[in-house]
Amino acid sequence: MSELRTSDGVAPPREPTEFDPIDTIRVKADFPIFSAAANDGLVYLDSAATSQKPRQVLDAMRTFYETTNANVARGVYAIAEEATNQLEGARRRVARFIGAPSADEVIFTKNATESLNLVAGSWGRANLASGDVVVLTELEHHANIVPWQMLAAERELEIRWIPVGSDGLLDLGHLDQLLDGARIVGLSAMSNVLGTLTPVRTITDAAHAAGAVVSVDACQFVPHNRTNVLDMGADFISFSAHKMCGPTGVGVLWGRAELLDAMPPFLGGGGMIDNVTAEGFTPAPLPHKFEAGTPPIAEAVGLGAAIDYLESIGMDAIRHHEIALTGYALRTLSERFGDSITIHGPADPHARGGVFSLALNGVHPHDISQVLDSHKVCVRAGHHCAKPLMRVLDVGATARASVYLYNDESDIDALADALAEADSFFAF
Ligand code: ALA
Repeated sequence: MSELRTSDGVAPPREPTEFDPIDTIRVKADFPIFSAAANDGLVYLDSAATSQKPRQVLDAMRTFYETTNANVARGVYAIAEEATNQLEGARRRVARFIGAPSADEVIFTKNATESLNLVAGSWGRANLASGDVVVLTELEHHANIVPWQMLAAERELEIRWIPVGSDGLLDLGHLDQLLDGARIVGLSAMSNVLGTLTPVRTITDAAHAAGAVVSVDACQFVPHNRTNVLDMGADFISFSAHKMCGPTGVGVLWGRAELLDAMPPFLGGGGMIDNVTAEGFTPAPLPHKFEAGTPPIAEAVGLGAAIDYLESIGMDAIRHHEIALTGYALRTLSERFGDSITIHGPADPHARGGVFSLALNGVHPHDISQVLDSHKVCVRAGHHCAKPLMRVLDVGATARASVYLYNDESDIDALADALAEADSFFAF
């Protein structure tokens, strides 16, 4: 089991400041999926894949479509101006939520995967040449691996890996050698498999000292932790709305204006140009340079409402709730299953988020999830789009439970009960 290591000022303080504890009964009542008749008894433990959506988000999107729907930055009529105002209002909310110096640095994309591809496809293609070094970690999701591998194949780049230790933490023992000559570091702020909170600030400081820029996959981090992009020190931060109570279809790329300004557009089309002639085009200023075509307008409005919702509960309260729930889950599962269970990742709830990848007595993860499903316990089974990490863990797959602000101890108890049945059913 691992020593405590927090995220260097990126994770919220160990002793949270004042906030109201989360009343999960009241919070759950905000999420219609839990009161749908067909879902009686639903135990949703797959928020790392996608979170559920509160009524406030659904209402905001419905109201948008019912009262304001029009395309943005084009029409001069009233509802088109109002739609544009709402999109730009959502952008300002995102900027405030992540501590961005300017809303112009907030780019709306389709999802975090597109944001990460934008960094590789635009910054990478403009800045990397044969022999250049990209540093990734063994914790990365495929979304922060494959775009670099695609570019590496095109440009003959070298990819180096920051290893993960058996404690589930990044091993920074050889960081300086790994960063020697590096141009960019791709780093997950929180592992979608292990829950590990990574030392983003330590790595960005070292990367900058070595002359590299840093692209952070903050998909699992932003929904669960207070985020300040300046404290993180990174150059690019990517995340998705659908993991933070918002809708699918909209993601965010935050980048330092100086870098974004110097980068070529990623996709071409309407909305991203200043002028087009038969000879060529000039791109629009930020953020529109990176937003070709009709943006995800209602989805951005939904993301703005999701941010309002999360802020009404408080990010410190959410983090504190998840630390307590993670501690409860680790204790309960260890007590119930002893040596029969392996919970991958750091042992200290302060060093991780509420993501539990499990191995139970050799039972196949898909069998576990099928038995859990018969108890209405929803978990994800598979490689979690992190195959290099699966190889490090020496497993083909895991069953993964993950919690959010609407989960409480009763959900963990239901998980443990259903796991016990899977264990006895498949015991050999
Ligand atoms: N990246 C998401 C997950 O980890 C889909 O499940």
